[in-house]
Amino acid sequence: MSSKRLYSTIGPSVSTIKNQNLVKTQAFVNGKWINSSSGETFEVSDPAKYPKEESKLATVQSMTEDDYKSAIQKANESFQKFKKVSGRERSTLLYKLYQLMHDNKEDLAKLVVLENGKPYADALGEVVYAASFFQWFAEEAPRVSSDLIQSANPENQILAIRQPIGVCGILTPWNFPLAMITRKLGAAVAAGCTTVIKPASETPLAALALAQLSEEAGFPPGVVNILPSHESAKIGKLVCEDPIIKKVSFTGSTNVGKILMKQSSSTLKKLSLELGGNAPFIVFEDADLEKAVTGAIASKFRSSGQTCICANRLFVHESIYDEFTTKFVEKLKKDVKLGNGLDEGVTHGPLIHDRSMEKVREHIEDAVDKGAKVLLGGDKRPDLGENFHDLTVLGDVTPKMLIFNEETFGPVAPIIKFSTEEEVIKLANDTPVGLAGYFYAKDYTRLFRVAEALEVGMVGANTALISEAALPFGGVKESGFGREGSKFGVEDYTVIKGVVIGGIE
Ligand code: SIN
Repeated sequence: MSSKRLYSTIGPSVSTIKNQNLVKTQAFVNGKWINSSSGETFEVSDPAKYPKEESKLATVQSMTEDDYKSAIQKANESFQKFKKVSGRERSTLLYKLYQLMHDNKEDLAKLVVLENGKPYADALGEVVYAASFFQWFAEEAPRVSSDLIQSANPENQILAIRQPIGVCGILTPWNFPLAMITRKLGAAVAAGCTTVIKPASETPLAALALAQLSEEAGFPPGVVNILPSHESAKIGKLVCEDPIIKKVSFTGSTNVGKILMKQSSSTLKKLSLELGGNAPFIVFEDADLEKAVTGAIASKFRSSGQTCICANRLFVHESIYDEFTTKFVEKLKKDVKLGNGLDEGVTHGPLIHDRSMEKVREHIEDAVDKGAKVLLGGDKRPDLGENFHDLTVLGDVTPKMLIFNEETFGPVAPIIKFSTEEEVIKLANDTPVGLAGYFYAKDYTRLFRVAEALEVGMVGANTALISEAALPFGGVKESGFGREGSKFGVEDYTVIKGVVIGGIE
């Protein structure tokens, strides 16, 4: 590693990271830190900083398609050895990485704040959440097991051997720079696979810090390869079309997921796609209102609305609509402080970039044009920086508005009035996507009925905080397929081989 180059490419905020070993701007391939073969780099900037000239965090190597091809080769060579490493040993590696993430949690959190903009407390929460996948999969690795099945022929026995699928391509988003990698990487390693990881070009620094920790944890070279690049579309295509890669796991938008699926068809690759959502959050007339308000704020405004499972449409029963909206708005006024995620007391940070801002503006303007009322916020906040926007509440939203039909991925809560359970289930399901859904109600018969009726992959019933390593995370409809985390997470990284053993008397 050329440390001279490293230090010449980081800005002043990144030099405040205490453990400078975690600050990397090169790619990590086959256990080595390397530069791009083209010499190309790209800039990573802090979304909270204004003016723009002050926002530069680091200049990072932009790895080319050729760099990826050679990393895939190395990952394949590594796979030939790693697939023979025992589950117990893979567990030890994952557990070490879990501990190292905890040992370095403050620095990792600071990197996340700098490149993603989320408040420090949330970033620290993300580090702990991200590490928990390594803990979880350390516990799963020794338990990946095969089945013995009775044959119809008494002379035979059938073995269903669960084997690691091979080299996995992992494509991750910027909204959880660590957790979206660890949820995939932990499962892949537990299964015995090797990985080639492309972190989002907005947030490569936390990912590269993770690569450094994997080296310290003693992962064999080639198991974890992390290659930053600003050519996301080209690299996505390459990873999907490469015949060595046997599985691709992607978290991101439904549109990109569809493109990757098409590109993967030439090699019939196994896919896990965790795509966009349009989560309904239903407050029934018998709900505990205080809990529902707290839950709605936590779900809607987590990471300033920039998560796939954020509540996107708040349905409130007509009999409690006024009381709910008043309490919701009052609580937001009291509790929220917008600002730079590293500043004391800040609860919500900026949007990631101008494209996100455009969508938020488009959704608010369209809703207001069509009759929605602004109950809180509604404006950009250039006084704080160009990526800041008020946390916004819109009342009287209807299905005619864009915000009802599309994921906003921003800090806008649209509230829709409903009168019956049947009506709200219909409205909630009236979308091509289905990732998460939430509802608050006390009637226990309703708990089962509504949980079953919502067309989503995950339901929060009287809770908005559903994310944890034990949850089978994933969607239905155009929110994708595959389940991450949980006892099902490893399966996606394995294939079953049937072996018929004959000659048994
Ligand atoms: C996402 O936004 O895709 C992930 C959210 C989570 O894991 O809680």
